[in-house]
Amino acid sequence: MAESATTRPHWASRLGFVLAAAGSAVGLGNIWKFPYITGENGGGAFVLVYLGFILLIGLPIMMAEFLIGRHGQKDAVGSFIVLEGARSPWRFVGWAAVAASFLLLSFYAVVAGWSFDYIVKAATGAFSGRSAEEISALFGGLVSNPVKVIFWQLLFLATTCVIVLGGVRGGIERWSKILMPALFFLLLLLFVRGMFSPGAERALAFMFSPDFSALTPTSLLDALGHAFFTLSLGAGTMITYGSYLEKDVDLFPLALRITILDTMVALLAGLAIFSIVFAAGLEPGAGPGLVFQTIPIVFVGLPFGALLAVLFFVLLSFAALSSSISMLEVSVAYLIDEKGWTRLKSTVLLGAGAFLVGLPCALSFNTWSEVTILFGRNFFDAYDLLVSSYMLPLGGLLASIYAGWFWQEGEEKSELVGEVERPWLYPLWHFLVRYLAPVAVIMIILNQTGVLG
Ligand code: TRP
Repeated sequence: MAESATTRPHWASRLGFVLAAAGSAVGLGNIWKFPYITGENGGGAFVLVYLGFILLIGLPIMMAEFLIGRHGQKDAVGSFIVLEGARSPWRFVGWAAVAASFLLLSFYAVVAGWSFDYIVKAATGAFSGRSAEEISALFGGLVSNPVKVIFWQLLFLATTCVIVLGGVRGGIERWSKILMPALFFLLLLLFVRGMFSPGAERALAFMFSPDFSALTPTSLLDALGHAFFTLSLGAGTMITYGSYLEKDVDLFPLALRITILDTMVALLAGLAIFSIVFAAGLEPGAGPGLVFQTIPIVFVGLPFGALLAVLFFVLLSFAALSSSISMLEVSVAYLIDEKGWTRLKSTVLLGAGAFLVGLPCALSFNTWSEVTILFGRNFFDAYDLLVSSYMLPLGGLLASIYAGWFWQEGEEKSELVGEVERPWLYPLWHFLVRYLAPVAVIMIILNQTGVLG
């Protein structure tokens, strides 16, 4: 595909864009991370705070990222250069986004690799006839085996590279059209199954009746970081995807749809998983292993359980792929647009780089389980903390400060489109990115680091 500045590729259709951006947003974050951090943070109150952050901070910042990318028609760095000039310090925000998405990919591929392994486990009947303890032990058996974990990590990254190599339309858009509907279908099936199980009532109560005493400063940072994580914000993804959009597209309804889709998937996944967890008398706060250690146990006792387990991990892997391609695309687009590299060279080198950088994460549960960095955390937890809790919120914060304080109002307004039908939109959005989002992000980070006492 020719990708010079004059023939920048664009999405084939609006639906294609929505599917690709929603495919980026919906991922391990919704199905692996959201349920386990909700479980760890006590349920209802955390969910409520998270929903508030999604609506008041996430959605406005998603709009800001789309607008910046669509205006620049370039990668995350190039878009800031188009807006502010080649010497502008704003280009560092773009670089930080490229770095964040690359680090995130290297970490993400490890977890996604576990999901690949579980497809094989489920398909070969590894769970059938086993007790809960035996099934839980399978997870430890997998992550403690460096060769297996690295094999799946590599395979996942290679798959991601192959899709990204296809380019924007051929690769990302075409795949999202297949992956997203499949995902919804499978998830709905699991959700309905969960709602007919005896755990449905407790799951609903756990997720929707808030107990605010369960919230700590760390829960707030977790909820904030997760709002960025789940909407793919703060790492240049939405800037890059926005840059493949035509000028006349009215973005607000699309951003709203993507946000609603993402939130629905997280809530459906949470309800499905918790109803199953409660029906089987399991622990909601089981931690990062929650999905892998509990889902298979529950499936064993269900009719068509083996098939459902395969479907579940296929779904999880699909979701992870449509997210990982969006992470890789950020740095691939940067090398193509700014350094003039070919798509092939950029993709192969970045894929290999992400593999090497991710290796310490893959080794965190085995060979290097004793190695700690960053306040006693292993590499895996340290990467997650650094990227999810700090880099993403800071990246999003800077994008919102740019849109709220530095972007020329006339330019910004005209980029928003749809001004006539929705005169309230610009003032509302501008207020949120100018005041609410930056103040909230800064306060939550200071609160966590203890500066606010
Ligand atoms: N949103 C995805 C998920 O929930 C992960 C993701 C993809 C992401 N691209 C991103 C997160 C960019 C932050 C930034 O799994």
